Amino acid sequence: MRLIFLFTIFISTLFADWYSYKKPGVAPVQNKLYINECAACHFAYQPGLLPSNSWKKMMAGLDNHFGVDATLLDEDFKAISKYLDDNSAEKALAYKRSKKIARTMRNDGDIIAITKTPYFIKEHREIPKRFINQKEVKGLFNCTACHTTAQKGIYSEKDILIPNYGKWDD
Ligand code: HEC
Ligand code: HEC
Repeated sequence: MRLIFLFTIFISTLFADWYSYKKPGVAPVQNKLYINECAACHFAYQPGLLPSNSWKKMMAGLDNHFGVDATLLDEDFKAISKYLDDNSAEKALAYKRSKKIARTMRNDGDIIAITKTPYFIKEHREIPKRFINQKEVKGLFNCTACHTTAQKGIYSEKDILIPNYGKWDD
């Protein structure tokens, strides 16, 4: 009786651990082609920051990408589209942030900016405008200006350092 009891406890802690195991941020970018082509003008936004429909819509409009021409060679277009699709938020549910982004979005693909997603807006709504609209930051699209570990896909509060303000503690 006692043994069965202990065994049950052992098994359930094992499962509890397994279920609650989540990687904290989003999967880091390792794709060289993506870095070369999509991080020439800005930070290499991780695919896990948007659902696949949003990436598809963005890729379909590269000739007018936020006002600039970001068109690619056919071959690169295909490879990058696949990379974004395979690693989009709803396919990276082991990562806590991707899961939240995917869950809080109507996945109709209307939103193509990370900074316009409901999850992103909610997380950043308490930041005073003067911290965002300063020359060291420029805008919320500039993740690396405040998130010191953004390249690693880590966006934890303890790693935030806002220029001309310092650590963020709310
Ligand atoms: C020629 C420059 C250029 C290239 C190349 C480029 N982008 Fe951009 N991208 C921009 C600009 C400009 C913006 C608007 C925000 C800004 O000012 O950085 C932007 C914004 C974005 C945003 C939205 C950021 C936000 O505000 O949430 C994403 C996501 C993005 N780009 C992904 C990509 C991907 C994927 C590629 C490769 C296929 C790519 N970009 C290539 C210039 C570029
Ligand atoms: C002006 C500085 C600033 C910029 C730029 C910025 N963030 Fe943040 N971000 C913050 C702050 C501050 C918080 C914490 C907000 C709070 O807890 O009230 C935060 C929170 C987050 C969170 C939630 C983290 C958590 O542990 O809950 C994520 C994810 C995130 N940011 C991603 C991004 C991404 C991706 C970009 C770029 C597209 C970005 N941020 C741009 C300052 C910034």
